[in-house]
This record gives sequence, C-alpha cells and structure tokens, in this order.
Amino acid sequence: MGDVKKEQKPFSYEKAKTFSCNSHCSMLRLFSKLILTFAIIFSIQFVFYPLSFISSSQPRPRPLIKIAVSPVVSGPGSGPKPEQTEIKHVVFGIAASAKLWKHRREYVKLWWKPDGEMKGFVWLDKHINQNDTELPPIRVSSDTARFKYKFPKGNRSAIRLTRIVSETVRLLNGTESEKNVRWIVMGDDDTVFFTENLIRVLRKYDHNQFYYIGSSSESHIQNLKFSYGMAYGGGGFAISYPLAKALEKMQDRCIQRYPELYGSDDRIHACMAELGVPLTREVGFHQVDLFGKLLGLLSAHPLAPIVSIHHLDLVDPVFPNMGRVNAMKRFMVPAKLDSASLTQQSICYDTARRWTVSVSWGYTVQITRGVLSPREMQIPTRTFIDWYKRTDDKSYAFNTRPFSKNACQRPRVYFLSNALPDSALHRTASEYVRWYDDWDPECDWNMSDPSEIDRVIVYKKPDPDRWDKNKAPRRDCCRVLPRKKNGTMVIDVGACKDDEIVEFLVK
Ligand SMILES: *[C@@H]1O[C@H](CO)[C@@H](O)[C@H](O)[C@H]1NC(C)=O
Ligand SMILES: *[C@@H]1O[C@H](CO)[C@@H](O)[C@H](O)[C@H]1NC(C)=O
Ligand SMILES: *[C@@H]1O[C@H](CO)[C@@H](O)[C@H](O)[C@H]1NC(C)=O
Ligand SMILES: *[C@@H]1O[C@H](CO)[C@@H](O)[C@H](O)[C@H]1NC(C)=O
Ligand SMILES: *[C@@H]1O[C@H](CO)[C@@H](O)[C@H](O)[C@H]1NC(C)=O
Repeated sequence: MGDVKKEQKPFSYEKAKTFSCNSHCSMLRLFSKLILTFAIIFSIQFVFYPLSFISSSQPRPRPLIKIAVSPVVSGPGSGPKPEQTEIKHVVFGIAASAKLWKHRREYVKLWWKPDGEMKGFVWLDKHINQNDTELPPIRVSSDTARFKYKFPKGNRSAIRLTRIVSETVRLLNGTESEKNVRWIVMGDDDTVFFTENLIRVLRKYDHNQFYYIGSSSESHIQNLKFSYGMAYGGGGFAISYPLAKALEKMQDRCIQRYPELYGSDDRIHACMAELGVPLTREVGFHQVDLFGKLLGLLSAHPLAPIVSIHHLDLVDPVFPNMGRVNAMKRFMVPAKLDSASLTQQSICYDTARRWTVSVSWGYTVQITRGVLSPREMQIPTRTFIDWYKRTDDKSYAFNTRPFSKNACQRPRVYFLSNALPDSALHRTASEYVRWYDDWDPECDWNMSDPSEIDRVIVYKKPDPDRWDKNKAPRRDCCRVLPRKKNGTMVIDVGACKDDEIVEFLVK
C-alpha cells in the first residue's frame, strides 16, 4: 500500500477526527476509546449472534420449495439452522493462460486470500513454475484436441476454459474438501472479485438446488449476439455444486453439439439450456464490455452489492493518473472497511449553494451546479464507449445519460484518496480529492462554482447486513454538513431516517 500513500495527500487518523472531537483530544484518549469500542463490538456480537440464530431459524427444506428471496420466517420447533454460506464453501476456477499469467496474476493477488482461506485453482494451458504462496495453485487443463471448434477467427482455448467447471468437479470428487463445497465460481485472470459481496449474493440462494448466477454484458449488441440469458464469463458466475455435478456428467457431449460457438461462457450457457436452468441475474457481476472510464458506471451502481470488475487491462485505471493494478489496490482499501457499501450511491443537495452532490461510497463524490433529481442522478453517465466503440445511448443494456448537458453542469469529480476506520465513533472516514481534468469550462451562471472545493470527507457507519435477504434494498441518504474549513466539504452518509427523502427544500 506504500504507493497509495505516496500518491495522495497525507490523511492521518487525527485529521479524520477533527470533525468529531476537539483539539485537546489526546492520543491516550483515542487509544482507550479504541480499545473500549472493540470490547463493545465483540461483546455485542457474542450476545446477539446466538439470539438471531434461534429467532430466525427455519427448517431448511431440501429441493422443490423455492426459498430464494422470500423473507425468513421464524417457527417454533424448527431444527438447527443450516450454516450460512461462507468463503470456505466456494471453489474458484480462474481461467488463465501461461502467456499472460505473469502479468494478470497481479489482479488475482489483489483479492485472493492464501493459506487455505480461499479454495480454487488457476487453470493454464501449460505448466509454468510458480513459487508464490500468495496465489492460488495452478492446474493444467487436460487435452481438448478431440473437440470440434468451428468459430471463424476464434480461439479454441474456449473449449479448455469451458471445461474448468467439470474438471474442478472431477478434481474434488471423493475428497475431504468436497463435503464443504457449495458453489463453483468462475472468473477470468483479469477479473477482481469483491469476495465478501460474492458471499452476500450466494447466501440468498439455496446451494442444494440448481443455480446458475451471473450477469449479462453492458453492451446491448453483445447481448444480442450472445444472449441476455448468458452469464458472461469474465464478470464471473457461480454454479451451485449439484448443478456443477449435473453439468460434469453431460458437458463433454454437450460441447460437441456447439462447435460453432465462440467462447467458453456461451458453451456453458448452451449446456445450461439443455439442463433447463436459466440465468439468475445478479447485477453486481460486471463483465465490463466497455472502453474508457468506468467513472459513470461505478458512480451510479445499481442497488446491489458490487461483486466483480472484469477487463481491467482494457478500461482506464479505476483511479486516474496511476497504474491499473495500483488503482485497484486503492479500491481495495474501502472494500476492506465496508465492502457491502462499496460504490453505493447516495444523492443530496448543498442547499445554500444549489449544488447536487452524488456520493459513490469508496469511489467518488461528484458535485454539480443546479438541482438535479435523483431520478436523473441514478442513471450512469457515459464516460465510456461500448465494446463496438459506439457512443450512443442505444449501445447499452441499461439507461445512460451524457456526462453533462452543458458546460455549467459538468460535475466536479473527487476520487477516493484514502479511507480509514474511525473506531471510536463506529464509522469510517473516507477522503476524496478533486480530479483536475484538463477541461475547465467557461460558465456564465451567476452561482458558486464547486471548484472552490478541493477535498471531500465522507463519514459513514459500516453496514455489513444491508443486503440480507430479509431486507429490502434501499439507497442511503447523504447530508452535507456545515463547512468548517474553506475548500473542504463534509458529508454524512447512512441509512435514510424516517421521512427522509432526497428533495431540494428552499428554506
Ligand atoms: C489462443 O489463446 C492462447 C491463450 O489462451 C494464446 O496463447 C494463443 O496465441 C491464441 N491463439 C490464437 C490463434 O489467437
Ligand atoms: C521458492 O522461492 C524461495 C525464495 O524465493 C526459495 O528459497 C525456494 O527454494 C523456492 N522454491 C522452489 C521450489 O523453487
Ligand atoms: C467419482 O469417484 C467415483 C469413485 O471413484 C467414481 O465412480 C465416479 O465416476 C467419480 N465421479 C466423477 C464425476 O469423477
Ligand atoms: C449574482 O448574484 C448575486 C446574488 O446572488 C447578485 O448580488 C449579483 O448582482 C448577481 N450578478 C449578476 C451579474 O447578475
Ligand atoms: C474562507 O473564505 C472566506 C471568503 O473567501 C474568507 O473570508 C475566510 O477568511 C476564509 N476562511 C478561512 C478559515 O480560510
């Protein structure tokens, strides 16, 4: 994380505290508060965990009863609640090649937890020497020469990669670790997973049933060419273990029926169709069939946990003016503090200045002159172009809007520079600094210019349970706090209070 520190303004714990405690706050007091906080958090967890365990228990029916998204009902006399899905229940299959692995493994290192905490393999076309315990172990895919591949100008490595699911099932067959396996999750070597959010998504579904979970492409044309019902492989997808076993039994026969398909993921899709299993779409998986800046997409993320980002080698670095890997490394800092809320958007107004403020927690703050409705602000701005290098709004599988309608409404963008826990107050403090993009438009509106702000501080309580299946999704609210220092805006983000809505009220 050394490079992260070098590239940003110093932002110490004490600085984060300046809004919460007076200047006489001593280090000693901070330290004792910290200890106390930890003690309280731990004791609360110990008291409440067993209670919630009992009160929400429910006999988990075996197949046939759909429980995927229904609220959990408590019932007397119910048996022990099955253990909820954790990272140890997942086996990853990372689709890679010997040629690119040396470079791409840097992305995998950002999210992979070694020493058995995560399970899975990197699948290569040939053996390479790897002496790095920070990475998943390597497996070499078995030979696929006997399979037909007829897509013109395609790459028959697609057959090797599509078989990773079956090869993983065979590898696990009869082993001790197979007993723990609930899901097989596929991803590419240029994909970063936010694994805590992956688990939050998988927890919603019964792993004993057949589930195929992922998302389609951002590119409408890609979805027309392939399918809206296909889980795009780079964004990653999850297959419940019983379904993976069913797939293993038929996949090699199935593949031979589709030699004209292009990739590995459309072969999985074809076999899923034969199995009669539809895609369960979870919009937090991001295939990123885009070029340019992800700014617009990640600043207006849907109300769902962000699970993955793919094509990291093709899009601009997620934070400007730094390398792609280092930019993702910076993204992992807020991801560790409050993964559930990473890139979740909240919208509020600076009433005095008539500015619209949009926070994408852990990523950006954008300040726009004038009052824009949440209906508009929740639409991603087109800071990217689609896979076929088209720029119009019809190229995407979702609504988009231009970055600004006129020069005066071009937003000022503040990118995350650092995020820290503020343990004494059970919250996080994240700092966003102004991005000086090269175009500074002339604007003749007689209203204050957000350019006077060069730094934004956001306070937020972590909210790890916001995606629990008994909770309806809801956007956070943000509040612009009174300014104490010129050039710095301070914002509080959190669950909306009773009757709190996003509206511009003239006092
Ligand atoms: C196919 O992909 C492999 C990597 O998986 C690469 O080494 C090879 O050059 C590609 N072949 C063609 C024809 O593009
Ligand atoms: C792995 O690397 C370490 C240090 O870099 C070295 O001591 C060790 O012998 C290496 N092991 C293998 C199998 O190459
Ligand atoms: C799993 O192992 C058993 C026993 O060795 C064997 O009969 C079965 O075919 C294997 N299944 C798979 C999917 O490899
Ligand atoms: C700009 O607005 C201020 C008050 O908000 C007013 O006093 C001033 O005359 C205005 N200037 C112009 C050029 O309209
Ligand atoms: C903030 O800016 C105003 C107006 O430019 C100035 O009068 C004031 O002294 C500044 N305050 C600080 C603390 O710099």
